[in-house]
Amino acid sequence: MIISAPTDFREAARRRLPRFLFDYIDGGAVTESTMVGNVDALQRVALRQRVLKGAGNPSLAVTVLGQPWAMPVALGPVGATGMYARRGEVQAARAAGLAGIPYALSTVSVASIEEVARDAPGQLWSQLYVLKDRGYMRNALDRAWAAGMRTLVFTVDMPTPGSRYRDRRSGMAGPAATLRQYAQALRHPRWAIDVGLRGRPLSFGNIEAYVGHSMSMADYTGFLARNFDPTIHWRDLEWVRQDWKGALILKGILDPEDAREAVRFGADGIIVSNHGGRQLDGAMPTATALPTIADAVAGAIAVLADSGVRSGIDVVRMMALGADAVLLGRAYIYALAARGQRGVSELLDLIAADMRVTMTLIGADRPGAITRDSLAGLPPSVQGRSEALRGGG
Ligand code: FNR
Repeated sequence: MIISAPTDFREAARRRLPRFLFDYIDGGAVTESTMVGNVDALQRVALRQRVLKGAGNPSLAVTVLGQPWAMPVALGPVGATGMYARRGEVQAARAAGLAGIPYALSTVSVASIEEVARDAPGQLWSQLYVLKDRGYMRNALDRAWAAGMRTLVFTVDMPTPGSRYRDRRSGMAGPAATLRQYAQALRHPRWAIDVGLRGRPLSFGNIEAYVGHSMSMADYTGFLARNFDPTIHWRDLEWVRQDWKGALILKGILDPEDAREAVRFGADGIIVSNHGGRQLDGAMPTATALPTIADAVAGAIAVLADSGVRSGIDVVRMMALGADAVLLGRAYIYALAARGQRGVSELLDLIAADMRVTMTLIGADRPGAITRDSLAGLPPSVQGRSEALRGGG
């Protein structure tokens, strides 16, 4: 299949993957309205076309949380990435390293913290879920630090997994899941050889190293359901802030009150996110929530954003709405599933090219020049008043 645009990877991934895995990536919570709304709201954000500003050949380099990034994009944490391509975490992290951007390794990865740090040097971040087993959390923090990871992404929007009906329909969960998964794998021989045979061991590298025995993928959804802590409160996180000496980013902030709380808590940054519409169906699209949150934080800490970013134009839109940088989720996972590390590199090249064209056409010669002033449809008197941006600007 010929890839011409970043969004072409989705169809390529659909062909390659057994259905239960494609649907697990592609799906969201309940009716998937927030998932779809993320993309729609972002698409509706209009940018100001400016001419004769001399903004050609823009540089994409930025400094975020004191670190140099080649462009304002990072690869976000995605669970079970090693199921979508052989040792998928390592392949994605290598593509990120080559592109000069960070890669965030999920708690529930196939390749462990140590494997990724060994095989994919670069800016590696460690993502941690709040789990019932605090011993596991301490162990994960120690291991991430020992592996040289200095940025912790603490995901706080999953006190309990969202209801994902598509997973029951597809065979990811529900009755006879394992049998259905085998049947689907047999119909996708390229995936079965690449991942099913050559990608072993298919277990949770991080958790296995702690529990001391192998955990199969069949345990995945069960593990998530059993180990999340729905009673979690800000005060339960204080020890993490005290123990973790590196940068701490809270992922899953969608409300300005929570953003202010994150600043008080001592976070170094937040990721404005609704988990790609996989948690609270009916939650506001990230693009809609972002301006008010950026105002609430008022530059005190870094504001990153994800959910719905599919192209370089979307990156520029998120930045115009107030993000310092964005994270990719599904966008890079589709590319990884379709073509491995090479696919992620191709995607990042397409996004960088897209960003340069967009920035030239809005008259921004560097990422710092993308501001709220880059948004169209707002009279100057209301620019900066984010209420006016609700509904997509
Ligand atoms: C995720 N996401 C996620 N987030 C996290 O903090 N830890 C994780 O383990 C996972 N796992 C995960 C699996 C899959 C299959 C997806 C699609 C997403 C959420 C992810 O980091 C990000 O917030 C969303 O993917 C952003 O939305 P878009 O851009 O994918 O629509």
